[in-house]
Amino acid sequence: MSQVRKIPAGLPIEAEVALAPLTTLGVGGGADYLGRPRDVASLVACVDWAEAEGLRVWWLGGGSNVVIADQGLRGLVIQPQMRGLSVIAKGSGLELVRAEAGCAWDDLVLWSVERGLAGIECLSGIPGHVGAAPIQNIGAYGQELREVFVESELWDREERRVVRWNAEDWRFGYRESRLKQEGGSRYVVLAVVLGLWQEKAPSLRYRDLQAYFAGRSNPSLREVREAVLTIRRQKSMVWDLDDPNARSAGSFFTNPVVLRSMADAVRERLAQGLADGEQMPVYPTEQQTHVKLSAAWLIERCGMPKGYGDGAVGISQRHTLALINRGGAPASEVMAFARHIQQRVQEVCGVCLQPEPIALGFEEGL
Ligand code: EPU
Repeated sequence: MSQVRKIPAGLPIEAEVALAPLTTLGVGGGADYLGRPRDVASLVACVDWAEAEGLRVWWLGGGSNVVIADQGLRGLVIQPQMRGLSVIAKGSGLELVRAEAGCAWDDLVLWSVERGLAGIECLSGIPGHVGAAPIQNIGAYGQELREVFVESELWDREERRVVRWNAEDWRFGYRESRLKQEGGSRYVVLAVVLGLWQEKAPSLRYRDLQAYFAGRSNPSLREVREAVLTIRRQKSMVWDLDDPNARSAGSFFTNPVVLRSMADAVRERLAQGLADGEQMPVYPTEQQTHVKLSAAWLIERCGMPKGYGDGAVGISQRHTLALINRGGAPASEVMAFARHIQQRVQEVCGVCLQPEPIALGFEEGL
């Protein structure tokens, strides 16, 4: 930290705070300052102070989808702590649920399932905060946030006011949104409003869930939530301090969405190494012209199986898409390992894997 500043009384800001413990991957340096506001007025006061002091502002949610650089973050990191959760309207079989940015995402899912509200039960067990959920349009086990998203409140630093964005404003895509594309710190999510169904059977679109409930009809919302948590735990995709394979940022790469002709070319390149009857997994997308490939499958085909890597960073023993910190890893090693995987997949398959987590404080990004 270049110069120690006086923090005004009443501002929820601390100086020189380690950030690694605030992330699920557990790497990276500290913040010059960390603000943890419990209401919007306090959040705005934190921003005002940073601006008056000429400090850069960074936003942090639950730390489950970020890689923080070893040199840490210069300026003020703000982690919103507003945690309100309420039903703001009901009607036509829907309840509009408003959740503030600092709620743990899974607390919102549990609360909704307990109220008998359907729409996000398959998103059980995703680590992180509500405020970050729209940024990468979280999705799992056949559901995506955008399907239930109604609107959000954001603080706009430039206009100094609360703005409202609906699903269209957000320009959601697969693990994509306007804020993810634009980056920067102009906006921060304050709250989201979701439209959840009062009387709707749980969603069983995903193969793993259908297999789990094979031969059973009409599982309840609670049962689907438990099933998703069980499946995620088997892959170490539920945050658990005692599970070394869970010390990750979730999927480190997105599943590549490519033209059909490209998928054919990849299949051809890999044909020789396939076992009898083995098929390259290819999933449909919204666009007829494109398909989704399995990043995990490609990585394995390139000779990098679960457990791969002999340093402090490696591939999880439970899921090929998760890069884990086996203990004491620097962020630079995570990045080098990720680049190694990208290069290998590019060479062998001709596919460019895109990192999913957001890199903070690196000169060049991931
Ligand atoms: N697969 C492997 N090896 C593995 C795991 C999966 O080859 O270790 C292949 C198989 O072909 C399998 C297919 O991948 O049939 C699908 O596996 P899985 O259901 O685990 O899905 P994923 O593509 O690995 C995606 C999301 C996850 C989400 C799951 C379940 C992305 C980047 N990842 O993973 O999201 O939980 O589906 O819906 O889209 C995250 O975004 O951080 C995340 C964990």
